[in-house]
Amino acid sequence: MTNNIMGRREFIQTTAKVIAATTLASSIGPPRALGAPAPVILITGTSSGFGFRMALTFARAGYKTYASMRNIAAENQESAQSLREAARHEGLFLEVIELDVTATEQAKGVVDEIMRREGRIDILINNAGAFVFTPIEIVPRDLWDFQMRTNVYGPMELVGLVMPHMRAQRVGLIIQVSSRVGSFVIPGISLYATSKFALEAASEAAHYEATHQGIDFAIIQPGAFNTEVNRNARKIFAAITMPLILKERPAGESHYRNFLQTLDGNFSGQPPRDPQEVANLALRIAETPRSERVLRYPVGDAWEIDPLRNRNQQIANFQRQAMQDAGFSHLYRP
Ligand SMILES: NC(=O)c1ccc[n+]([C@@H]2O[C@H](COP(=O)([O-])OP(=O)(O)OC[C@H]3O[C@@H](n4cnc5c(N)ncnc54)[C@H](OP(=O)(O)O)[C@@H]3O)[C@@H](O)[C@H]2O)c1
Repeated sequence: MTNNIMGRREFIQTTAKVIAATTLASSIGPPRALGAPAPVILITGTSSGFGFRMALTFARAGYKTYASMRNIAAENQESAQSLREAARHEGLFLEVIELDVTATEQAKGVVDEIMRREGRIDILINNAGAFVFTPIEIVPRDLWDFQMRTNVYGPMELVGLVMPHMRAQRVGLIIQVSSRVGSFVIPGISLYATSKFALEAASEAAHYEATHQGIDFAIIQPGAFNTEVNRNARKIFAAITMPLILKERPAGESHYRNFLQTLDGNFSGQPPRDPQEVANLALRIAETPRSERVLRYPVGDAWEIDPLRNRNQQIANFQRQAMQDAGFSHLYRP
């Protein structure tokens, strides 16, 4: 988390820059019909990175934005404060609410509360995610649980909570933040890739199940962007991965350390792409007419996007055929 790693002044400067820079994004998308109610959106993981920028971007575009994050009273106090101040200064509808995506009861409470206040939820963005890196050989069961609870079970539980309301409204959009490693694997991030493959599989299946009920899924597949993801990954490594490995797989430690050094070397050269691009893409998807939306949206450098587009097309071709063979061609949608 930014605020744990940076000093307070650095964090405030960074968020102030983000708030200033994202002002441009508010002009994206067609204006809504006069008098139409503002769409209601719930975003997870808004304490930093893509989520922080998405919260500002949607609020500035006129959406009733519920920006959720965990630990508002502790580690994420400054992030919550920055969003609330931006809301106050700019007159935005931007509510910061507590949500740890792995906490089922809390998720139910959040969805119930938004429904009580607004009577609808138009968009869910499952953005929160954790990045665990470790060789697969030494992954203890609890580490599998941690990765999958954060990146798959929690997000899909939220999907299950909002879908009945969207079905009743006969309109809804669920944006899932996956990764380029939701389609490709890189050694050492196999656990994370497994979680994103799983998220994409579950989301694609739900897309076919729900599209005729007015609910769309859109999967964003980012390449490498300059967020807090790597710093947070190192925190997870120190606080969760290493203690679990030491407890469950003491023999794996030295192997892991060598491997980690190699990974560190690879990650340090990440291109500093602006995460605002991903927030802008999410808004663009929301403002795209249903008939023109597609399921997967790669975003990043061309060298990341082009192979993903090819891969997505291959999956789509195969998927269409598979659904036709299984008698479900009426549910297929690209
Ligand atoms: N940046 C990239 O290059 C990249 C590439 C592909 C995909 N992605 C995906 O993009 C999404 C956003 O990541 P980011 O790059 O913006 O990184 P980030 O700055 O680390 O943001 C991750 C967010 O997820 C939150 N989070 C983690 N576990 C949570 C939990 N149990 N409950 C609620 N919130 C939780 C974090 O909150 P805390 O501050 O409380 O930890 C933080 O707000 C993730 O799903 C990530 O896998 C990122």
